Amino acid sequence: TESFDEECDYLFKAVLIGDSAVGKSNLLSRFAKNEFCLESKPTIGVEFAYRNIRVGDKLIKAQIWDTAGQERAGSEPSQVRTTRGASALLVYDITRKSTFESLKKWLKEVREFGSRELVVVLVGNKSDLAQYREVNLEDGRSLAQLEDLSFMETSAKENLNVEEAFLQMITRIY
Ligand code: GTP
Ligand code: MG
Repeated sequence: TESFDEECDYLFKAVLIGDSAVGKSNLLSRFAKNEFCLESKPTIGVEFAYRNIRVGDKLIKAQIWDTAGQERAGSEPSQVRTTRGASALLVYDITRKSTFESLKKWLKEVREFGSRELVVVLVGNKSDLAQYREVNLEDGRSLAQLEDLSFMETSAKENLNVEEAFLQMITRIY
């Protein structure tokens, strides 16, 4: 694999945010390692993964930070979380309306602490569970439009749109 730093033209940093259990860690493991786990544990503190991606003739090393959706003792403060990356994947779960309603809070945090140029891609995850849907595709789309974000629905489980969501985020910068 292309894993030598000196071969990379850019280091790209991004962060995953959103409520607990929306699937942030699984989106990342799907993107970085093509792995999915039905019984994954909540993230404690922060973790990160790398993947090298070719965009045009440039090789980009993407360093993606995974964060905990729920504040716990020892979890990092929100102002640190949002400054880890030049862009963010803001994730909700289409089967839980409460995770969509939390987006207001997450966006406030992003706008307050993130850099002015922060690129945010809104992601409605678990599209494979359409029979339990509580958030319409149209609701995600309108919020994204209102807030000027890119948007897509994904399934980490079925590997739908995962690559596209991360690439959207990366190519909006380069
Ligand atoms: P925190 O670390 O607590 O913030 O949660 P998280 O957002 O990282 O969620 P995580 O990736 O751990 O996933 C939570 C649960 O949802 C796990 O049981 C996953 O298997 C499941 N899950 C994640 N993505 C999908 C998906 O696309 N479809 C389905 N059906 N389940 C998913
Ligand atoms: Mg997690």
